[in-house]
Amino acid sequence: MLKFVSASQENLKLAQEIQKKVFPKEYQNDTLENSLTSNPEYLSQFWLVKKGKKFIGLTGIYFYPQYPKDAWLNWFGVILEFRRKGYGRKIFNRTFAYARRLGFDNFRLYTDAKNNENTLAFYRSLKMKEEKYLPAQDDFTDIVIFSKSCHPFKKRIPSWGSKYLYIQEQLLLSQNDMLSYVKKKTSLSLLIFLKHPSILWRFCRMTFNRLK
Ligand SMILES: CC(C)(COP(=O)(O)OP(=O)(O)OC[C@H]1O[C@@H](n2cnc3c(N)ncnc32)[C@H](O)[C@@H]1OP(=O)(O)O)[C@@H](O)C(=O)NCCC(=O)NCCS
Repeated sequence: MLKFVSASQENLKLAQEIQKKVFPKEYQNDTLENSLTSNPEYLSQFWLVKKGKKFIGLTGIYFYPQYPKDAWLNWFGVILEFRRKGYGRKIFNRTFAYARRLGFDNFRLYTDAKNNENTLAFYRSLKMKEEKYLPAQDDFTDIVIFSKSCHPFKKRIPSWGSKYLYIQEQLLLSQNDMLSYVKKKTSLSLLIFLKHPSILWRFCRMTFNRLK
């Protein structure tokens, strides 16, 4: 039985240790913290995944206020020693079910297309729709997007196409100048909420729902 523990400022050290084990290359000391505090530009939630007494991985979702139909998988992974035992699929399915409960239409993720065979094999095994990310403004040309419909009977899913994913901004965000960024975004978020009450509704559901 897997248990999902919400990541927060209180267990941030532990979350960072797990993040470092799962993503040793990508790891920078503050990235998860930034993800936790970067609300609401990329409204996000994270969980640490526990099996018995051991933490085995982590998962999360976020969405972009300008694309309110799509939930995105984030910081998803399993610690090396627990891989290839079916946990990745279980964690993925539970995160997907959660996004579906929140009422999103589509569940998506993006990942590197290069030197990432294991991860690509994992997502391909889930039979998700796969497409190249081809943004006009972004320098990132080696990214693939995997998508899955949240509708039980509607399997066809719209392509993402080249809608902008702010990958550059997300990377910058994880580097520095967090405080000024967050301050700016907080005032921006109030405007977004006032203009789009449905986003406020989804944000509340993300805040009060639990991943079971
Ligand atoms: C991708 C990842 C989460 C998979 O987790 P996992 O627990 O090993 O996956 P599962 O055991 O549930 O595997 C499910 C299926 O995926 C496929 N798969 C998973 N790892 C694979 C690998 N290394 N090579 C080939 N196929 C693989 C297989 O079809 C597997 O089914 P099988 O074991 O019955 O053959 C894990 O490798 C990981 O954490 N990688 C590093 C972090 C990462 O890349 N996260 C994703 C960021 S977008």
